[in-house]
Amino acid sequence: MMNTLQGKRILLGISGGIAAYKSADLTRRLREHGASVRVVMTRSACEFITPLTMQALSGQPVHVELLDYKTEGAMGHIDLARWADVILVAPASANFMARLAHGQADDLLSTLCLASSVSITLAPAMNQQMWQNPATQANVTLLRDRGVTLLGPATGGQACGETGPGRMLEPLELVDALARGFISDRLSGLKLVITAGPTREAIDPVRYISNRSSGRMGYAVARAAAEAGGNVVLVSGPTQLHQPERIRCQPVTTAAEMHDAVMREIEDAEIFIAAAAVADYRCSQAAIQKIKKDNDELTLLLEKNPDILAAVAARKLPPFTVGFAAETENLLNYAQQKLFNKKLDMIAANQVGMNQGFDTEDNELQVIWSGGSIKLERAPKDRLARQLIRLIADRYHEKNTTQTH
Ligand code: PMT
Repeated sequence: MMNTLQGKRILLGISGGIAAYKSADLTRRLREHGASVRVVMTRSACEFITPLTMQALSGQPVHVELLDYKTEGAMGHIDLARWADVILVAPASANFMARLAHGQADDLLSTLCLASSVSITLAPAMNQQMWQNPATQANVTLLRDRGVTLLGPATGGQACGETGPGRMLEPLELVDALARGFISDRLSGLKLVITAGPTREAIDPVRYISNRSSGRMGYAVARAAAEAGGNVVLVSGPTQLHQPERIRCQPVTTAAEMHDAVMREIEDAEIFIAAAAVADYRCSQAAIQKIKKDNDELTLLLEKNPDILAAVAARKLPPFTVGFAAETENLLNYAQQKLFNKKLDMIAANQVGMNQGFDTEDNELQVIWSGGSIKLERAPKDRLARQLIRLIADRYHEKNTTQTH
């Protein structure tokens, strides 16, 4: 199974309870799996385990106070809420669950849970009577109904000497459950061809025309598609990125090579996603030798490259075809035109500029299809990619059900 925790940002909340000591090992295990962990502790958690321990294990400052000028300077509480891919509260005490169920924001951890749009997972830990109390059970129902995931509690001997349900799951059980939460099988059995990165068009043996695409967006989409069970072929222009695991990579340099690689792979693909920034033009005749700078002016004759996205969409039996639109102005208009002119199923439009879209950690997307559109708010590219893949999977399955009925 692929390691779905690699690169994930986990906000680990620790509330007060004896099981807090297990959160130290949990942090270590999560980091061993490649996740970044930032720890937020309630004040009563600090009675059971010190922030210093958690700071040493997470390698990051630990946050306790809602308004702390030191940590706010480094990463404010709203930034922290935006940073996370998932919030895991372990241990989640009866008191913390009650506060969360009733929407209280009277400390940093409960405020973060309210201020974040990512999923919340709780690992309850408490005395068995407290767990079974109707008040706690009512809170559990309320939280579950709102989409909060509960892992555990386990049944067994408790620190207080009693036996029953209320023990926090062991760190490795929590790690496995969290990893499974990042997997979905929405794309299982489907082949996806995804393009990423820039292309390079030679001017002479040492110079080329290219653009500022880093490949991050396309690679994030490829990883998200593989996490969702897809069989992914990534056709990538030159980038500095590592080849993602469980993904077949086809490295290319020019637009013509990208076109040929896509056409070879597309025959049996169900979904095509064009995230690459393909050079629109190439030199009609690249010079065989290095061009000398003898003249004050140099004219290059350029000719149009093949439009890979349009070529895929124009096939007799096209796959579900998703384009990107990178625009510096009139984003929505141009994106709509591309959706229509190229006969696409969906388009993800991003505003680009000097510090926007290209070669950045974050992005924001306006996703448009024939029946609707949705704005995916600014977020790290990995998270946006997962949201985009969910949309693509939904629309793909919707289209296929309507076509087969
Ligand atoms: O790589 P990053 O640094 O993470 O940056 C991400 C990104 C900004 C490059 C990415 O989000 C993005 O917008 N990719 C598409 C960039 C682009 O070339 O957009 P466009 O509007 O010029 O092209 C429209 C669509 O046609 C794109 O899906 C493109 O892949 C496709 N195309 C364009 C020209 C061509 N010859 N063949 C194509 O397939």
